[in-house]
Amino acid sequence: MNTFIFVFLLSTPGVTAVLHTVRYFQTSSSDVPNFPEFVAVAYVDGFVIGHYDSNTRRAVLKQDWVKDALGEDYIESLTARGGKHQLRFKAHLENLKQRFNQSGGVHTYQQMHGCDWDDETGEVNGYCLYGYDGEDFISLNLKEQIWIAAKQQAFISKLNWDNNKAMMSHCKYYYTQECPENLKKIVNVGRSFLMRTDLPSIQLLQRTPSSPVTCHATGFYPRYAEMFWRKDQEEKVLEGVDHGEMLPNHDGSFQMSVDLNISLIRAEDWSRYDCVFQIKGVEEDLTVTLDKSVILSNWRKSDGGVVAAVVVPVLVLVALVGFVLWKKCRPARCPSGFTGSHTSDTSSSSPGESDPNKETSEEQREMRTLIS
Ligand SMILES: *[C@@H]1O[C@H](CO)[C@@H](O)[C@H](O)[C@H]1NC(C)=O
Ligand SMILES: *[C@@H]1O[C@H](CO)[C@@H](O)[C@H](O)[C@H]1NC(C)=O
Repeated sequence: MNTFIFVFLLSTPGVTAVLHTVRYFQTSSSDVPNFPEFVAVAYVDGFVIGHYDSNTRRAVLKQDWVKDALGEDYIESLTARGGKHQLRFKAHLENLKQRFNQSGGVHTYQQMHGCDWDDETGEVNGYCLYGYDGEDFISLNLKEQIWIAAKQQAFISKLNWDNNKAMMSHCKYYYTQECPENLKKIVNVGRSFLMRTDLPSIQLLQRTPSSPVTCHATGFYPRYAEMFWRKDQEEKVLEGVDHGEMLPNHDGSFQMSVDLNISLIRAEDWSRYDCVFQIKGVEEDLTVTLDKSVILSNWRKSDGGVVAAVVVPVLVLVALVGFVLWKKCRPARCPSGFTGSHTSDTSSSSPGESDPNKETSEEQREMRTLIS
C-alpha cells in the first residue's frame, strides 16, 4: 500500500484529476488470537466503504451515500455473500495448509482485487492477487489473460485456472466493465465526500526525554499529503529524520508522522525547527514549531499525557489491521466477496482445492450459472 501511495504522490502533483480506486480485501486466517477468522473490507479511494467479518456475520456499509450509490437490498446480498466466502476461504486455507505440509499455527490466505479508473483519460485497470502467509501466491495478468504462479504450490491452480476459459472471460468482463462501472457509480454519488479536503490536527509527541520528537498529523484527507521537518523556514532537514508510514483511520481519514532526532540539536536552536504539513489543494503549509512547551509526553505532567497514551494504542491497532489486510491475499475466486455488484459472486476457483478436477468442475458449473 505504501508503494502504491508513494507512486500516487509522485505522479499527481498539482493535478486535479484523480485516479479512483476500488479495492476488496478478503482475509482468512487460522489461530490468530482476537482476530476474526474471516474479514472482508472494501475501499474506495483508500476509504473503507464496507466491512464483513466472521464474528458479526453482517455486512456493514460505512456511509449513507454508499448505500445510496449501491441500492437498498445491497447490504443483504453482501451479508449472504460474506457468509459464503467465509466458508469457502476457510476451506481453501485448510487445503493450502495441506499443500504446504502445515498442520497448525498461524496462517493467512488473502485476496486483494479491484480496479482503477482515471477520470481524465478514462483508462481502467483491474487487479486480482492472492497471497498465502503474507507472500504472493498467484495473480491475474489481465492483459495476457493468464495466471502467474508466484509459488511452486500455486502451479496446479495456475494450470486449472488458465484452462478455465469461462472463468477467464468472466474476469475480463468483470475487471474491465463491471468493476469500473460500479466504481464510477460510487465515485459520482460520493463526489463531495471523496473530493473534500480535511486538514489534520498536528501534535508533537515524545516518549522519553531522549527519544526523537514525533510530529504526528491525524485526520487529514485525501492522502495526497507530505510532512517534513524544516530548519530556518527554508531548508528541509534530512539528517536524523525518520518518516513513518501513512496509515488509514477508521473514519476514512489518514494519519502519518515524522520523527526528528533531537539529540543532534542544541537547545537554543530548537525554535529554528518547524514540522511542516502540506496537502494537495491547500496553498498554505501547516506548521508546528519545535518547542518543549507544546510537546505531549507520558513523563511530563501535562494534559498531553492523556493524548499520547491514547494515540499510541490507536496507531498499533491501525498498523495491525493494515498489515493483516495488506499483506495477505486469499485463494478463492477472482471476482468475489465485497465486489460492488450483485452479479459478481461468481467463479469459485480455489487454489486451495486439493482435488483439481473437482475444483475445475465446480468452478465451471458456477461460471455457467453465472454467465447463462
Ligand atoms: C510435503 O510432503 C510431501 C511428502 O512427504 C513431499 O513430497 C512434499 O515435497 C512436501 N511439500 C512441501 C512444500 O514441503
Ligand atoms: C540520534 O542521534 C544520536 C547521535 O548521532 C545517535 O547516537 C542516536 O542513536 C540517534 N537516535 C535515534 C533514535 O536514531
